[in-house]
This record gives sequence, structure tokens and C-alpha cells, in this order.
Amino acid sequence: MIIALNNKCNLSKEEFLSYQQELKNIKSPHQLILCPTTLYINCFDIKNISLGSQNVSSFDNGAHTGEISASQLAAAKVDYCIVGHSERRQDQQETDKDVNQKLKQLLPQNITPILCIGETKEERNQKKALEKITSQLKNATLGISLEEQKKIIFAYEPIWSIGTGNIPTNEEVIEMFTHIKSQYPHNKVIYGGSANETNIETLKKIKEIDGYLLGGLSLKPKNLQTFLKKIEN
Ligand code: PGA
Repeated sequence: MIIALNNKCNLSKEEFLSYQQELKNIKSPHQLILCPTTLYINCFDIKNISLGSQNVSSFDNGAHTGEISASQLAAAKVDYCIVGHSERRQDQQETDKDVNQKLKQLLPQNITPILCIGETKEERNQKKALEKITSQLKNATLGISLEEQKKIIFAYEPIWSIGTGNIPTNEEVIEMFTHIKSQYPHNKVIYGGSANETNIETLKKIKEIDGYLLGGLSLKPKNLQTFLKKIEN
């Protein structure tokens, strides 16, 4: 399974360094990916965990103040990058077009995108969840060859579930995953949104899930270890 850890904008440098020491003790047969705050990418030194970024510029190198390009991430040995997280779509008004450009920057650098998609509670209540993610996926992958598209990891994250402690029912998750996988049979699809060491007992029954994108849990190595053990059993 793919287990991506999204630290978001958390931890002082000191806290990050001791957190990193704790992560080194984690034992798991899974593909762990740590996405720290960008400032700490250069401090990363864990052998059995891959390095990811939380964002990338939609532009190539040049006059783009404050941006970090895909080639700069590649030079910093970043192998994965979260793209289109709902927090960025909301806080930075990131659009499907921006997301599409970011994917087009990352793929030639051999950085695997983790593309976030998901619906709001309102869209779910209006039975528009499938429609929403279908258009997000279509717009994000416009003009990208099938060979390149296959490399993208999709992270289905219901927006109303992120950081709230509420998760969808297994039936709701299965409906979304089955739909995504029917349209993109070659892509890995992971789940994100309040996944933790308790509700994993329920989530792990869903065989369509290829992994998890963890926010809050990523900051608690002990609970994370429990979570990883429970996936095994
Ligand atoms: P959460 O965040 O696990 O804290 O809900 C997941 C995410 O935002 O990727």
C-alpha cells in the first residue's frame, strides 16, 4: 500500500528533526512517503521512506517570486508531489487548470504526482459527488498522454472529511473508488480524510483502496505505527 504523510504547515525545525527520528523507528512493509513543509525538504534523511512535496509551481524556472519549480524539487531528490489539495484549491484559489499545469511540470521530471480530488458536503448532499470528481480528473489530465497519466496516484479526499473526524461510509467510498477505477483502470487510488488508527478497522475492509493520505495522523508517529500494524492484520 501507499501511505503518504502530509505534514501540512506544521512543526518548528526542532520539532521536525525529532519527529524525523521517531519516524525512523517505524516498521512497515508499505511504501511510506513523507511530505514535510517545503522548508524541511533539505533536512530529510530517512532511508526507508520516500520524499514528497506538498506543492509545486505551475511554472518552469524563471521570474516567479516565491515559487519552487519541479526541476528544483527533482534536484532536491523529491520523488512525489501532492497536487490540488483541497486546502490549496480553497486558500490559494488553485484551479483545475493550475493543477493540470503542475502535473505537466512534474511528470517530465519523473516526480510522481499525488492528485487530490473530492467533493464538498453540499455537492454530496446534492448527489453531485461523482460529477465533481469526474470533471476534476478530466480537467487535470487534459493533454497528458495515457502513458504519463498512468503514473499519477489519485487521492480521493471528501473535503468534508478532512480534519473533521468524519469519514464516509464504506458504501460511499466504494462507489467513488469503483467509479474512478472504471475510468482510470491503471491508476493507484488512495483515500484521505480523517483516516486514523481507530477507523482503519472499518476502512481496511474496502479492497479497492490502494493506500492512504494522512494529515493529522502523520504528526503522531506512535498512532501511525498502530495504524500501520492494523492494516497488516
Ligand atoms: P486529515 O488530512 O487526515 O487530517 O483529515 C488529510 C489530508 O488533508 O490530506
